[in-house]
Amino acid sequence: MSLENKTAIVTGGARGIGAAVCRKLASLGADIAIVDLNVTDQAKELEAELTGMGVRAKAYACNVADNAACKALVKQVVADFGCVTILVNNAGITRDALFLSMKEEDFDAVINTNLKGTFNMTQACYRPFFKQKYGKIVNLASVSALLGTAGQANYAASKSGIIALTKVTARELAPKQVTCNAVAPGFIATDMTKGLEDQYVSSIPLGRAGKPEDVANLIAFLVSPESDYLTGTVIRIDGGLAIS
Ligand SMILES: NC(=O)c1ccc[n+]([C@@H]2O[C@H](COP(=O)([O-])OP(=O)(O)OC[C@H]3O[C@@H](n4cnc5c(N)ncnc54)[C@H](O)[C@@H]3O)[C@@H](O)[C@H]2O)c1
Repeated sequence: MSLENKTAIVTGGARGIGAAVCRKLASLGADIAIVDLNVTDQAKELEAELTGMGVRAKAYACNVADNAACKALVKQVVADFGCVTILVNNAGITRDALFLSMKEEDFDAVINTNLKGTFNMTQACYRPFFKQKYGKIVNLASVSALLGTAGQANYAASKSGIIALTKVTARELAPKQVTCNAVAPGFIATDMTKGLEDQYVSSIPLGRAGKPEDVANLIAFLVSPESDYLTGTVIRIDGGLAIS
């Protein structure tokens, strides 16, 4: 599998699953735009690490909830790298609470970052993908959308919306040979899930939490030419957690 001459934008790329995706795609030869809320020391260290792997890499600050900022970001990435060929919509947040105690601002924040952020970044990449008649989009959904996890009305709804966006994007862009798929991770050990491991691991058939690299390996396949005939799908990567 090779991603040489490809440029990937990975949102929420500074840590967790996003950082693992950056490393994996770089190991296959892709140039990487690491996008996160701020250019943190962590993002700068990752940029240096990827550059050391022999690819071009640059960290960018962009709030994916901001439509204009996403458009400006994609223009800048194309100016810096010459093109954009891969988009991984990974930036995401949780603000868990049971329905009655969920604050309106927490509902809005999760929808704006997860769902609207995915829409914003996809819209910003539409023209370049359309023009070059090539592109690979992977959206981060969650098994929470499939299971309707209690305490995650905002998050599960945002991830269900992402599954719908994935299907619409796949249909609209198929005539241009652009594919769009979603991955639905289960419990992956990252900052997002810190402290929750004991609660979940006993219900995972494979008996362990997922690693960010488990998800990155799947995403690498979905952005590679090996998956050219795959579009509009949702693939669970959850150690069997949501087997139905
Ligand atoms: N960890 C899990 O168990 C799990 C399970 C299912 C789905 N997911 C999804 O995978 C993705 C990555 O999760 P993670 O566990 O690595 O989380 P994480 O919290 O470790 O990392 C998320 C990254 O997104 C960035 N981010 C947040 N809001 C942003 C915004 N508005 N604009 C740009 N960047 C922003 C954060 O700064 C952070 O670097 C998320 O979409 C999450 O919903 C995670």
